Amino acid sequence: MHVLHIAGARPNFPKLAPVHRAACVAGWQQTIVHTGQHYDVALSEQFFRELSIPHPDENLEVGSGTHAVQTARIMERLEPILDARRPDWVLVYGDVNSTVAAALVASKLGIRLAHVEAGLRSFDRSMPEEINRMVTDRLADLLLTPSRDAGETLRREGEPDDEIEFVGNVMIDTLLHVLPAARASGVRAGLGVGDDAVIVTLHRPSNVDDPVRLARVVAALRAVAEERPVLFPVHPRTRQRLVDSALSLGRIRIMDPVGYLAMLDLVSGAYAVVTDSGGLQEETTALGVPCFTLRPNTERPVTITEGTNELVPDPDALAARVAALRTHRPAGRIPEGWDGAAATRIVAALTKRGGSASV
Ligand code: UD1
Repeated sequence: MHVLHIAGARPNFPKLAPVHRAACVAGWQQTIVHTGQHYDVALSEQFFRELSIPHPDENLEVGSGTHAVQTARIMERLEPILDARRPDWVLVYGDVNSTVAAALVASKLGIRLAHVEAGLRSFDRSMPEEINRMVTDRLADLLLTPSRDAGETLRREGEPDDEIEFVGNVMIDTLLHVLPAARASGVRAGLGVGDDAVIVTLHRPSNVDDPVRLARVVAALRAVAEERPVLFPVHPRTRQRLVDSALSLGRIRIMDPVGYLAMLDLVSGAYAVVTDSGGLQEETTALGVPCFTLRPNTERPVTITEGTNELVPDPDALAARVAALRTHRPAGRIPEGWDGAAATRIVAALTKRGGSASV
């Protein structure tokens, strides 16, 4: 069996790592193609190192660009590689531009495509990721879902039963695998952060690209920072917007993006998390840490129905929601299949379908 993994942007890497490890145990041939969508050391190389992912076999070095430019560049550079290597399966992860670009190339070459984290929907097409998810799922031959509701969504969309496999959440495989090392890293102590801190991440265009919205978000975070420490590792896109806006940050503590281990140490010991990231909504649920998601919707509803996540569409409401934790902290429970064995189930699902190369 030969599987070829596509990795492009930061959230892909913790999903790829456990699948790669499980496929190693199975003795499979593996190829890693990095599209180069994320290229900063802090967003890419550091994750490969910390998660023990081998150096990519190919790097397409596409860099940044508009959505069409980035997607087109990936497609153009990936096609000859897939054509030459002809793996049994192409594995794509999550919902970034690299995911959909690779899905288009693989399916047109008649190479079987498996989507890890299939079936998530925000039902909000103003999010580029929603378009990436819909198109990728439509093309995939194997839909590997992280939660039961994702499978139901796919069936409602008409996907055949035999293409859908509930495998659980592969991100949580990574979280559980590295949590002891993250906690032993001493990052929180080194930064002088106690258990009363709120950790913030924001990078969605809907929060940071509109100056009026960004000003409201920053005002909300400043209000929280009057009460307790607020730490904000800033994505490059957000940093640029903050510089452009020249907003005053008050007591908010800004820092450069941190690696996976440092982030996990910060989040696992946090009083609460404020975010618009998909991954953090899941990680906080797995860790039992309260999470406030500054969005009107989520493609991960299980983090609300079962976990510790709460949507806060209006930033003006944030400080009161954080303050309310003094009297009530959400209990939450761990969703089914968020148990550290999702990658093993992915390998089993692929094994069941065998290794012949064409669709
Ligand atoms: C991408 C994903 C998003 C994911 C996020 C995680 C898409 C559509 N978006 O968003 O789903 O949640 O990654 O981080 O695929 N930049 C750098 N260094 C880099 C990469 C980017 O400085 O290594 C800057 C560039 O100015 C670039 C901007 O960030 O234009 C946006 O990068 P891009 O990959 O287009 O989207 P993200 O916002 O990172």
